Amino acid sequence: MQFGICYYPEQWPEDQWELDARMMQEAGLEIVRIAEFAWHKMEPSEGQFAWDWLDRVIAVLTGAGLKLVLGTPTAAPPAWLTRTYPELLRVDSSGRSRDHGTRRHICLNNPTYRQHSGRVTQAMAQRYGQHPDLIGWQVDNEFGGGGTARCYCPACAEAFRLWVQARYGEIEMLNEAWGTVFWSQTYDNWAQIRPPSDQIDKPNPSHVLDYYRFASDSVVSYQQEQIEMIRSLSPGRFVTHNFMGMFRDLNQFDLARPLDFITWDNYPTGNTPRWRPHLVGTQRDFRKLEELNPQHSTLRTPLAWDTGDPLITGMAHDLMRGLKQGPFWVMEQQAGHINWAETNSAVRPETVRLWTWHAVASGAETIVYFRWRAALMAQEQYHSGLLRHDRSPDVGMVALQRLRQEREQLDRVAAASLAPVVALLFSYDDLWALQLQPHRQGAGYLSSLFGFYQALQRLGIPVDLVAPDADWSRYRLLLAPTAHMGTPALAQRFTRFVQDGGTLLLGPRSGFKTASNLVTDTPLPGVFRDLTGVTVTSWQALPDGVTVNLDSSIVTGAAATWVETLQPVDEGVKVWARYRGWPGEGVAALTEHGVGRGRVFTLGFWPTDFQALSLIATIADGLAQPRSTPLPDGLLAIPRGEMVVLLNFTAGPITTTINGNEVTVGAVDCLIVNG
Ligand code: GAL
Ligand code: ZN
Repeated sequence: MQFGICYYPEQWPEDQWELDARMMQEAGLEIVRIAEFAWHKMEPSEGQFAWDWLDRVIAVLTGAGLKLVLGTPTAAPPAWLTRTYPELLRVDSSGRSRDHGTRRHICLNNPTYRQHSGRVTQAMAQRYGQHPDLIGWQVDNEFGGGGTARCYCPACAEAFRLWVQARYGEIEMLNEAWGTVFWSQTYDNWAQIRPPSDQIDKPNPSHVLDYYRFASDSVVSYQQEQIEMIRSLSPGRFVTHNFMGMFRDLNQFDLARPLDFITWDNYPTGNTPRWRPHLVGTQRDFRKLEELNPQHSTLRTPLAWDTGDPLITGMAHDLMRGLKQGPFWVMEQQAGHINWAETNSAVRPETVRLWTWHAVASGAETIVYFRWRAALMAQEQYHSGLLRHDRSPDVGMVALQRLRQEREQLDRVAAASLAPVVALLFSYDDLWALQLQPHRQGAGYLSSLFGFYQALQRLGIPVDLVAPDADWSRYRLLLAPTAHMGTPALAQRFTRFVQDGGTLLLGPRSGFKTASNLVTDTPLPGVFRDLTGVTVTSWQALPDGVTVNLDSSIVTGAAATWVETLQPVDEGVKVWARYRGWPGEGVAALTEHGVGRGRVFTLGFWPTDFQALSLIATIADGLAQPRSTPLPDGLLAIPRGEMVVLLNFTAGPITTTINGNEVTVGAVDCLIVNG
């Protein structure tokens, strides 16, 4: 593995570069990422490039032995560009145009913008593409960041018209696909189509879903232009982008596809409060559940105050690894306090070290810390760096020095195999469709996944979060907590997976929609009916506090939040859980259907954390070696080759057993044991 640093030489006097480079090298840093916001310094006025400063800083940094990652500067368009061509400013859904003064304030579909961003990318790649110390490129910076994934400007309106035309061919087909007969929305020709901007009532969910897809495709096509330019002018170097973990507004699988590998920006203390509301839905409180089931108590000590939630960070790592089903980098690793959360908590060196270990254990090959030195100016003055404002070492630097001493173990873990046999299906179409019509608050798409994710982690089972069109051949168990859109292609892929010996779990609200976000007119679960061997005879959202008792040897307690009644339509279907009382005495709530060499479990209700845990413990048995007792809360156990990396995110030591041996992991500490 390798250590790197994000550096902004343009923010510091030139006479400090030498010192910075020497200190980086002395600190054990090997890679430096620069330039991703320096457009104005590279091109001070239209067509006039100024490379001398960048030449010099590259010479200084590489002279100190650092390898270079260059970011294209297109997330920070200069004022001369937006003042000369104001039409390329981004427009939000209420028609408000954004202005210069921050970043990402432009429209990626604007042809003038593409021309200028292409020009600067090309010039940069021409100048530095063959530099012997250049190892790779980061295209742009955090696509979609700051709520900029979707633009509603005239250029986007025009591009959207072409996009729907290519998708539907005839306006009648679009009308059918969107169900526009409803409220007289019918379109007579393509010219009438607009982006779904702020409207009086709820916009049409088929229209909006297509706009989300279009906006995501737009970023993918924008990225592609830069990738192609860089590949042709800078052969042999990687091309990547820095992703944002559980970010919801772009199809990150599509964006990842053309890249050599993905990188992401990991800020645990900021991302935990940012993502928790989406990930933690109803009935998620393990603590309450433990009161009901004290024999299954897992909670020992509270999480440490500065670590963030390891399950939330972990799910992001596992999605980022799943984007390309392979290793990744952390391009920006939080190395101290940040500046953009509500409470920008202090962070201790032990915590930065634990985050680094967590990332490496999860498949990160390189950790690039953000940022070298805290900024004296502008928006991120309150953000930490490895160095404080006054150049003295901050907590991240202390952590890095400790990590350097652990380099051998880090390398050993990074080189060990990481091969989950369990996959969790992740679909942006399903996420968006349910975001548009949640029907039941607290029962969102991400929280349905998180319920199973936490169960897997507590059982010590590693998992990849993968796309509906990913290669599933390496997995034995595939979990689809909500396969909301029942496309025939997905039904076929599921069927093949199961016929070949895989185990599939299909959860509630599956097969409900068509690809254009209409409801299927066939009995539920629609296209998955043959596969599951059941029909969903009714579905209901339950208000808080209303539960239905369950009779089952696998899942105890009561169903809450959402219930579907299952009616076996195939003789071979085994019933593992039944409802007691409304909505149907003795009606099936969990079934199993053998298909080919595999089996399909169909779950009719929204499980609590505890129920998801019991369910996974049962169906993963024999497939993925679930632990017999769940791991204590706040402890992760990540298997790598012959080793298990134990990571304790709590405020106190934790003692547990790993393969029959008792081990103790200190507070905010990690331990490698033999698996
Ligand atoms: C990231 C961004 C960086 C910096 C950082 C601060 O999202 O890519 O440029 O703003 O956040 O935490
Ligand atoms: Zn636009």
